[in-house]
This record gives sequence, C-alpha cells and structure tokens, in this order.
Amino acid sequence: MKMKMIQKLSTVAAFATVAMAAAFVSTASVQAAESGPEMEHVDWSFNGPFGTFDRSQLRRGYKVYKEVCASCHSMDLIHFRNLGEPGGPEFSGPEVKALAAEIKVQDGPDQSGDMFERPGEGKDKMPAPYPNPEAAAASLGAAPPDLSLLAKARNGGPDYIHALLTGYKDAPADVAMPAGGHYNPYFAAGSGVIAMPPPLAEGQVDYGDGTPNTVDQMSKDVSAFMMWTAEPKLEQRHRMGFQVMIYLLVLAGILFFATRKVWSDQH
Ligand code: HEC
Repeated sequence: MKMKMIQKLSTVAAFATVAMAAAFVSTASVQAAESGPEMEHVDWSFNGPFGTFDRSQLRRGYKVYKEVCASCHSMDLIHFRNLGEPGGPEFSGPEVKALAAEIKVQDGPDQSGDMFERPGEGKDKMPAPYPNPEAAAASLGAAPPDLSLLAKARNGGPDYIHALLTGYKDAPADVAMPAGGHYNPYFAAGSGVIAMPPPLAEGQVDYGDGTPNTVDQMSKDVSAFMMWTAEPKLEQRHRMGFQVMIYLLVLAGILFFATRKVWSDQH
C-alpha cells in the first residue's frame, strides 16, 4: 500500500522535474548559429524570462515605422486599435483615435452605390504603401516584405533588424553591385546586396521627447516595435512562465516533504 503511494509520488515528482526543465528551456531564448558577420547583441528590455517592453521605446518605434518604413513596407497584421492594447505601446483611447484619423480609408458602397473616403478608425489596418508586391518590386527593384512578423522570422530577431539598419557599408571590390543595389553584409539573403537603400539618417525622426535621434537609437526603437508586432503577447507569456515556475517549485517542495513523511512512517 505504502510502496504504491511512494511509487505514485515519485512518478509525479519526476513529471514535475521534467516540466520544470521544459519551462526553463522554453523561456530561455535559444539563439541559432549565424552564418553572416557577428551582430551586436543588444540588451533589449524584453530579453530574458522577466523582460517587458519599454512603452516609450515602442511609441518611438511606431513613429519611426510610420514616418520612414511605411513608405515602402506594409504591416498588414497590425490594426490601429492594437496600438492601445495592454502589453504594447499602450496609446490612450483618444491617442489611438487621432493616429487612425491621420489616414484616409476607402469605404463603401454608400446607399447610392458609390465608394467614399473616410478618416481611419481603430478597426483599420496600417495602410499599405503599394497595392501589391509586384507594384512595389517594379518601383523599388525588389518587393519589400511585410514587417508584421519579420522580427520573429529571421535568425537573431530584433538584433538582426538593428544590425541590418545600421550595417550599410561600401561594397568590397570583389562584390559585383547591380544598379539600384546597396551593400549590407548582414542581409539574410547572404549575398550582401540589398535593394533597400539605407533607410535611416541622423536626426531623421523628430521624437519630441528629448531622446537623441541617432541612427542607432532609431533603429533600436523600430526593432523593438517590430518585436512587439511579431509577438504582441510576449509580456503575457513571460508572466505565465513565471507563475508556472513558482507553481512547480511549490509543488516540488510539497512532494519532497510528503515523500520524506511517507518514508519516515515506515520505520
Ligand atoms: C525606399 C523604400 C524602403 C524603405 C523606406 C524601407 N525599406 Fe526595408 N526594404 C525595402 C526593400 C525594397 C526591401 C527588399 C530588399 C531585397 O530583397 O533586396 C527591404 C528589405 C527590408 C528588410 C530585410 C528583410 C529580409 O528579408 O531579411 C528589413 C528588415 C527591412 N527592410 C526593414 C525596414 C525598416 C525597419 C525600415 C524603416 C526604418 C525600412 N525597411 C525602410 C525598401 C524599403
């Protein structure tokens, strides 16, 4: 009878240990081996199992996206209302409304069957600069990818975005440069030739809050913003991981004492 109970307890304890190990592994960010040049590992506020986004940084990053990147890149998965949701830039209701109202959206048909334009609303997507990838490629030399999920779709994540945006160089003599090409050794495609011209210049975006608007700062801010768009529930996941860990620690403690009690009763 007691033996059975001990067996049961040790099975549960083994399960708890395995589950705890799994929780540790899944919260630690596993970095895959990189093939390109070594990229800087930025000390992001959202790194590690307890990391959170820096609200001001996400707001600045949105400004960089809106004023610079959005003229070429779409961000189809993000709606204006997302900008006010918990865990993100957390703009207030009126701020979200005002940001959405900056764009014009085609809507309709109205009662007489005509399409009409209205100011943007929370339910609208970030406006796409081109009607389709072909049109974008025809004017830019290559289609700029949608930025919604890109920070999670590339090795290095936000470190890669930051390295790319700050990594333009003069092409080495042995690299043949096609017309409209730019040299950037960090470009994931490998050749180092990218159709995107260096998008950021010193002082380009006016932050209005005294944050220095260097290329390095703007690229960090927009990379953090892209990390949020790619994983809007990151903070929730970190919180959940922490709670699960506490739960498992308490459970392991209880099992430890229960096992000791059962064994000591035997003698
Ligand atoms: C003038 C248009 C233009 C602007 C402005 C621009 N991009 Fe691009 N971007 C492109 C094009 C075109 C490509 C595709 C390059 C290629 O395939 O050679 C690209 C590619 C990229 C890639 C590489 C994706 C990959 O496949 O690894 C990233 C990341 C990126 N852009 C981010 C940004 C960010 C962030 C901004 C704003 C700071 C920005 N871009 C502004 C045109 C632009």
